[in-house]
Amino acid sequence: MDRNPQAEQMADESMVRNLAAQAEAIWPQELPIMRGHPVPANPTILDVGCGTGEITSRLAEVFPTATITGVDLIEAHLELARARYPQLAERVTFRQADAFELPFAAASFDLVVCRHMLQAIPHPERVLAEMVRVTRPGGVLHVIPEDYDMIHAAPTRLDVAAFWHAAPRAYSAATGTDLHIGRNIYHHLRALPVEDIRIDYVAVDTLRVPRATFASVFEAWRDGYTDVLAQHLGWPEAKVRDHFEAMIECIRDPDGFALWVVPVVSARIRAAC
Ligand SMILES: C[S@@+](CC[C@H](N)C(=O)[O-])C[C@H]1O[C@@H](n2cnc3c(N)ncnc32)[C@H](O)[C@@H]1O
Repeated sequence: MDRNPQAEQMADESMVRNLAAQAEAIWPQELPIMRGHPVPANPTILDVGCGTGEITSRLAEVFPTATITGVDLIEAHLELARARYPQLAERVTFRQADAFELPFAAASFDLVVCRHMLQAIPHPERVLAEMVRVTRPGGVLHVIPEDYDMIHAAPTRLDVAAFWHAAPRAYSAATGTDLHIGRNIYHHLRALPVEDIRIDYVAVDTLRVPRATFASVFEAWRDGYTDVLAQHLGWPEAKVRDHFEAMIECIRDPDGFALWVVPVVSARIRAAC
């Protein structure tokens, strides 16, 4: 099994841009949800699939006495994260590890965070179970599971709704991943020893998020995914690119409206009876 089937796209320069833009777009609305989690003083936190450390570093700000570990498979992202946040090195560690086999004992963390990763791997339910294993009873799991049917834009010169219906399905089928994990995660969590499952939503739209920031996400997706989507859809690259362009034009148009609904899911690990 390929444990990071999007490795090429994840390691691309466009992904570094994308993670920065996504953090800028999503974090302001996610922050109150994060602050609401019941974590003890001096918490231990794990950020699974931490990428370039965008959110690991923000977690260090929100929890100033926390000890934080960020793990990812891509060493280049981890190196960038270490280089970007040397001031956090005393309490934030970035290390290479596989989310399917986390190198930590059971019940090691008070809070486990996993953002924008579950849509990119096969068998996300296995990684969810692994994250539950390393979270202590009473601890919290905080996940952003993407769902590519939750993207809307109008007016657009092309039928982007049809594109967002077709492309993720073709991609999922070709890679064995679930690009609709946003709606499927509840079912997976119900099979695990968790309680208080909560689903909040961040509304990334053209009213709440600066258009330039919002557009940057789609520009990065365009640059990183056009070729592979064309291949899986059986479309010419120019046609895929044009659908991204139509989205971006709508987002940048002061009279256009676009919305990306981002689920933010949390659950508490059940205490052993
Ligand atoms: C879209 S990025 C999200 C980065 C970060 N969580 C954020 O919110 O900015 C997904 C990350 O998950 C990582 N990843 C994918 N499969 C993984 C696995 N099996 N174990 C650890 N990390 C993995 C990728 O390398 C990538 O850096």
